Amino acid sequence: MALFGKNKKAPTPDSIILPVHVGIIMDGNGRWAKKRGLPRKAGHREGAQTFRKITRYCSQIGIKYLTVYAFSTENWKRPEDEVGALMKLFQSYLEEALSDFKDDDIVVRFIGDKSGFSPELQALMEENEQSSKNRDGMVLNIAMNYGSRDEIVRAVKHISADVKSGRLDENSIDEALVSNYLYTAGQPDPDLIIRPSGEYRISNFLLWQSAYTEFVIMNKLWPDFQQSDLDEALQIYSQRNRRYGGV
Ligand code: IPE
Ligand code: IPE
Ligand code: MG
Repeated sequence: MALFGKNKKAPTPDSIILPVHVGIIMDGNGRWAKKRGLPRKAGHREGAQTFRKITRYCSQIGIKYLTVYAFSTENWKRPEDEVGALMKLFQSYLEEALSDFKDDDIVVRFIGDKSGFSPELQALMEENEQSSKNRDGMVLNIAMNYGSRDEIVRAVKHISADVKSGRLDENSIDEALVSNYLYTAGQPDPDLIIRPSGEYRISNFLLWQSAYTEFVIMNKLWPDFQQSDLDEALQIYSQRNRRYGGV
């Protein structure tokens, strides 16, 4: 099955309900490399190509928000050479590949604690956000040094500081307000989260935002993930019956 959207020749098939916001936990790079007797960083390099391809595809079929999990607050625990290779990869991506997204009018945003990265990387992140912010295509959130518990703790601290300073009335704290203190403020919650690599866990990704998200676990490792796998996830999502606690 192939899907086509904006700028493409054929319309989206009627049977597909397109999610507004898709999240992807880009997992399985290390196992992909291991299977081939390659160092884990080779898997990350290949995974970065998949990221590029799938992001453009999502934008072309008309997804409005895509959030990809690239590096978690827990991933710093990995061996130094693996973390170093990932930082190098992020650097080269932010320098070159993200300019690709210009053609697709993609707005690039980073969610997570930028201060954990080198000043060069932080500057590149800012530059990418600034140069893309006035585009009107898909919003791409790249979760880097992102952990949802960390995000919630920050929100709680920020809310309490605002109450203390009198900027915020305690009685106005509600679910919508909490959402607006998260990195994803102003964006709709994810409709669908895809996890390749066959793991059945959320690994600290969008905990608050995924209260009513549909999960699709796929057995492909991320570097092997194809456009047809995304089509399959969309097909599965389209058959789900979302009830939000109702009947
Ligand atoms: C995901 O792939 C990439 C990052 C977490 C940075 P992994 O590196 O977790 O790959 P596996 O899960 O070990 O196969
Ligand atoms: C989640 O994958 C983080 C990213 C894909 C960036 P992990 O590989 O870190 O998750 P666990 O350790 O299997 O839960
Ligand atoms: Mg993993």
